[in-house]
Amino acid sequence: MGSKLRIAVLASGGGTNLQSIIDGCSNGTIDGQIVTVISNNPDAGALARAANGGIAHQCIDHRQFTKRDDFDRAVIVALTENNVELVVLAGFMRIIGDRFLEAFPGRIMNIHPALLPAFPGLHVQQKALDYGTRFSGCTVHFVDGGVDTGPIIIQAVVPILDNDNEATLSARILEQEHKIYPQAIQWFAQGSITLNGRRVVINNGSEKEVAAQINPPLPDEQ
Ligand code: GAR
Repeated sequence: MGSKLRIAVLASGGGTNLQSIIDGCSNGTIDGQIVTVISNNPDAGALARAANGGIAHQCIDHRQFTKRDDFDRAVIVALTENNVELVVLAGFMRIIGDRFLEAFPGRIMNIHPALLPAFPGLHVQQKALDYGTRFSGCTVHFVDGGVDTGPIIIQAVVPILDNDNEATLSARILEQEHKIYPQAIQWFAQGSITLNGRRVVINNGSEKEVAAQINPPLPDEQ
């Protein structure tokens, strides 16, 4: 095995996805090491999780920059100083500018709590509820110049139940986020990901079939 993939995690909030990646790196399901955690929010739970995990972390507060490009520059400096090979956005609530994209081409991933391309942007669990979709889910994708538009690596489908509210649906989706994000990162670390146009191809030798799901379920067959 070569050396471990050098990962940076960027997070603005509580950091449960960060935690799943910390755990994956420490239990060996991800052949990687988190070399730095960066937050734009000084109060982010993600920073406390990094501290607890003994992981280098810093806050780059976007409010101290008048231009987004200057904030991006500061983040890029922190990433390049740490020889980062993969940038993982985990609940990072800032748009990534062109300079940032050009610094890490094909090396920035994001997780989004909906089944893209449905419901890009913010408050998407509530939007799926309001729309009345029978399923939502989560998507790990590469980041490109649009909002939640990059090539999709893996998705998990989650049913929406009649008595769901934003909190219950978000929790059901998060549970799946914690499974698919570490897996996507591990595929990247293994070099199993190739791009064919917009289509991401995973060369991991798995021939498992994926079952269709129906919600509400059909009546049981007699
Ligand atoms: C997650 O649900 C993630 O998908 C979402 O923020 C939450 C962060 O939770 N990301 C976005 O909405 C990105 N636009 P966490 O801080 O517990 O990982």
